[in-house]
Amino acid sequence: MAAGGGRLDGKVAIITGSGQGIGLGYAKRFLEEGAKVVVAELDEARGKAGMDAIKGLGEAIYVRTDIADPESGEACVKAAADAFGTIDILINNAALYHDIDNTDVSYEYLQKVTSVNQHGAWLMGRAVAPYMVKQNWGRIVNQSSGAAYSYMFPPMEFTGLGNYSYSITKWGVVGLTKFMAAQLGQYGITVNCIAPGITMTEATKKVVPEMFLDGMTGMTAMKQRLEPEDLAGAAVFFASDDGKFCTGQTLVIDGGLAMPA
Ligand SMILES: NC(=O)c1ccc[n+]([C@@H]2O[C@H](COP(=O)([O-])OP(=O)(O)OC[C@H]3O[C@@H](n4cnc5c(N)ncnc54)[C@H](O)[C@@H]3O)[C@@H](O)[C@H]2O)c1
Repeated sequence: MAAGGGRLDGKVAIITGSGQGIGLGYAKRFLEEGAKVVVAELDEARGKAGMDAIKGLGEAIYVRTDIADPESGEACVKAAADAFGTIDILINNAALYHDIDNTDVSYEYLQKVTSVNQHGAWLMGRAVAPYMVKQNWGRIVNQSSGAAYSYMFPPMEFTGLGNYSYSITKWGVVGLTKFMAAQLGQYGITVNCIAPGITMTEATKKVVPEMFLDGMTGMTAMKQRLEPEDLAGAAVFFASDDGKFCTGQTLVIDGGLAMPA
């Protein structure tokens, strides 16, 4: 049994965008729970740094992957199956977040963000589904954001319609989760979603001003900042047999801010 609770013993998990940040936190915890992990990351330097950070925790491979490119996603899934035999779990964590530009109101930019944050999750889901259907067992966890529920953020600084690409793609991921869950449930596959509040990753430190972090934290019930490891237990629940009858759900983990029904 692995160092953790062994709740994912022997399961094969593809975790997208796991070279750093929240995805890396998931990778660490999944290895501790006995899973074999595929670090599916676009940025090679991050992929390698992520692999260094999880060294010794269990079986893991790095596969350079662009989730917005259908061929790259399919190749990642094939490489995972070749290495470990099948795919049991997909964590759709990768997104354009660290370099998001809320001032770009071009249509091209909206398409770019959508192609990664929303279409990328669908493409990866399509790629893993045949393996999960065949074994009548699978777990997909999509990553949304508290931004999906924050309609007044970012501040309305445009005279016309602003750019909400990040927020609307994250809201789209909540809906995608329900459609995927409805279709895949009959094959023993659950699909759920985690919507984190502001979490203290390198990306957040770059994107969110320190003053804003304090303000947002002050508005939460818990009055404390979230770290990546604070999210990992929920991902393990969704990915394990404990979550067998939980599907189509979005769990907001933000210390008590949005509290949607
Ligand atoms: N940190 C937060 O406060 C926060 C809050 C809510 C939701 N989220 C979401 O959690 C996830 C991780 O956030 P993070 O803070 O770790 O951000 P991050 O930017 O550090 O991590 C995202 C990772 O995805 C990778 N990536 C980007 N495009 C990719 C692509 N096309 N194919 C494969 N990999 C790609 C990046 O290289 C990066 O390593 C994202 O989906 C983000 O939107 C973050």
